Amino acid sequence: MISRMKSHSHSSFSALINILLFNLILLFIALQPCSSSDINLHNSTPKPGFRIALQHVDSGTQFSSRVHPTITGLEYVMQVGIGTPPVHYNAVINTGADLIWTQCKPCLKCMKQSTPLFDSEKSSSFSNLSCSTQFCDTRQTFCAIDQCTYIYVYNADTYTRGNMATETFTFGCGNDNHFFEDGFGGLMGMGRGLLSLVSQLNVKAQRTLS
Ligand SMILES: *[C@@H]1O[C@H](CO)[C@@H](O)[C@H](O)[C@H]1NC(C)=O
Repeated sequence: MISRMKSHSHSSFSALINILLFNLILLFIALQPCSSSDINLHNSTPKPGFRIALQHVDSGTQFSSRVHPTITGLEYVMQVGIGTPPVHYNAVINTGADLIWTQCKPCLKCMKQSTPLFDSEKSSSFSNLSCSTQFCDTRQTFCAIDQCTYIYVYNADTYTRGNMATETFTFGCGNDNHFFEDGFGGLMGMGRGLLSLVSQLNVKAQRTLS
């Protein structure tokens, strides 16, 4: 997926991201007709990039992130906080797939990342995902000896593997991650599947509305 994303020209990828973010905002406006302060989107920081903050007041679902281009300018990364207390990592925005994941301790194979690896033992809100949820019944997730496990293949030689876990959202805790470049700690799935950030925020909001 990463190498496929690299083949996009900068401008068409920027356009894609703009459309994506616009859709995210529309989604939240549509879900929260009564609140006006849930979405903050501004370009005022001197660094390239911008900050996006989404908050669903009723369910308590919060998502806030700084989005900025990578050094090559070919990809966008967003800063994601995970766990209690939150640990931040840079996730490459991935519109073609749905899994949200980060590299986790203990690591069989990991890319070099600028922030510490996620250590589930240090997060008080962490739990392994139960095998009985819908998130453990997708093409990439399955139950192995009472542990919800995943293998997510992007291209022939790029994949992430680990166990599924839950914080405020369901994500992959990757212990075995094969990619051709370093500098990021995981991917942020924005695709249409069940596991994506967009789907997960949507599902939570729908539950509270019903
Ligand atoms: C989650 O599962 C992993 C892999 O089976 C295990 O090493 C870890 O101790 C589990 N964590 C918790 C909090 O149960």
